[in-house]
Amino acid sequence: MKPSEIAALLRPRRPVFRPTARRLARSRTVDDLRRIARRRLPRPVFDYIDGGAEDELTLRANTGAFDDLVLLPRVLRDVDDVDLTTAILGSESALPIALAPTGFTRMVHHEGELAVARAAARAGVPYTLSTMGTRSIERVAAETDGAQWFQLYVWRDRGLARELIARAKEAGYAALVLTVDVPVPGARERDLRNGFTIPPSLGLRTFFEGAKHPHWWWRFLTRDVMSFESVSDRAASPSGVMQFLAEQFDPSVTWDDLDWMRQAWDGPFVLKGVVHPDDARQAVDLGVTGIVVSNHGGRQLDRGPATIDALPGVVDAVGDRLEVLFDSGIRRGRDIVTALALGARACMIGRAYLYGLATAGEQGVDHAIALLTAELRRSMQLVGARTVSELEPSMVIRRSRA
Ligand SMILES: Cc1cc2nc3c(=O)[nH]c(=O)nc-3n(C[C@H](O)[C@H](O)[C@H](O)COP(=O)(O)O)c2cc1C
Repeated sequence: MKPSEIAALLRPRRPVFRPTARRLARSRTVDDLRRIARRRLPRPVFDYIDGGAEDELTLRANTGAFDDLVLLPRVLRDVDDVDLTTAILGSESALPIALAPTGFTRMVHHEGELAVARAAARAGVPYTLSTMGTRSIERVAAETDGAQWFQLYVWRDRGLARELIARAKEAGYAALVLTVDVPVPGARERDLRNGFTIPPSLGLRTFFEGAKHPHWWWRFLTRDVMSFESVSDRAASPSGVMQFLAEQFDPSVTWDDLDWMRQAWDGPFVLKGVVHPDDARQAVDLGVTGIVVSNHGGRQLDRGPATIDALPGVVDAVGDRLEVLFDSGIRRGRDIVTALALGARACMIGRAYLYGLATAGEQGVDHAIALLTAELRRSMQLVGARTVSELEPSMVIRRSRA
């Protein structure tokens, strides 16, 4: 080759100097975001978001079970123009996605819940604030005009639950999401091994961790103190997280408790953490608006089913008598396509946006949503669906293991 021909082949990449932009440019998948999050966060904080209960069987099953399913595409269907909008709990959403509630979000990045709520609003999808949020019900509501849902844990102090429901109503939250898979907290053994506390304590071990992640510690020590802002007058305990949770959760809650909650909340009411078809039927009988087929991202019962395996049984049990949402294990747009084809109305994502938040704050959450959206759109085109309602169960088959 002549030098001029070689020169024509050279396409030097433009260097990206801003570190955030560089990290984002390097993240082409949610898994890439996870790898960067792992590097950037102190180990106990990364393990807190990444880990599951006990041996993490269910955590692994959530993603592994998707790999046992195969999408059976339809062809020649003019998929030039794909419409990703859908109605979730009676409101229009730009995508069949909602952001799941995650506690202590400010530990991942100092902007925490506010950054996630802003990113959700920009994407036109609902954001769910956790009872364990580190920004208050009112502060998050004031931050954006986007659709917001409030996730409730019923604690021993029922008066507190009533108060939270009233505040969420007053602040204009669009739906109440009652999490029902935490009668007691799951055993997050990574947290136990790491001696993880809320807020992180400053011991010798954390000092060395701090030396490896100075940017995180600098922000942690120089921003306002982290607490469970919605309940900070009663529960800002800096004790070990497992102990704190164990003291607060009320294992005696039953279906009967839904009565007073329904009276206190007249909008869409969702149960999060249902996997058994009989529980789904009971939810129909009690008139709830929706359920989330969820195992809390594998953080509760270990050896519980992968949610994508539980979904068809639940959908069969309820038909269209209530809305079935789905979460746990969504890492790719094709996972969303699979869950929608099997009957879910929309998918909640948890860790995927937390990895983005850890990588690049609010821009990282935008990036995680954008990656999933691009994958979702392409997968729909490849599977031959122009709208989410064209995704149907016949498009999913189980991989044969002959
Ligand atoms: C760090 C972390 C904190 C969470 N905190 C809550 C919470 O406060 N309330 C709740 O209902 N679910 C909570 N979840 C569960 C999520 O809402 C969601 O069900 C789960 O993350 C979905 O699985 P995925 O992470 O594989 O997408 C949490 C999950 C994570 C990873």
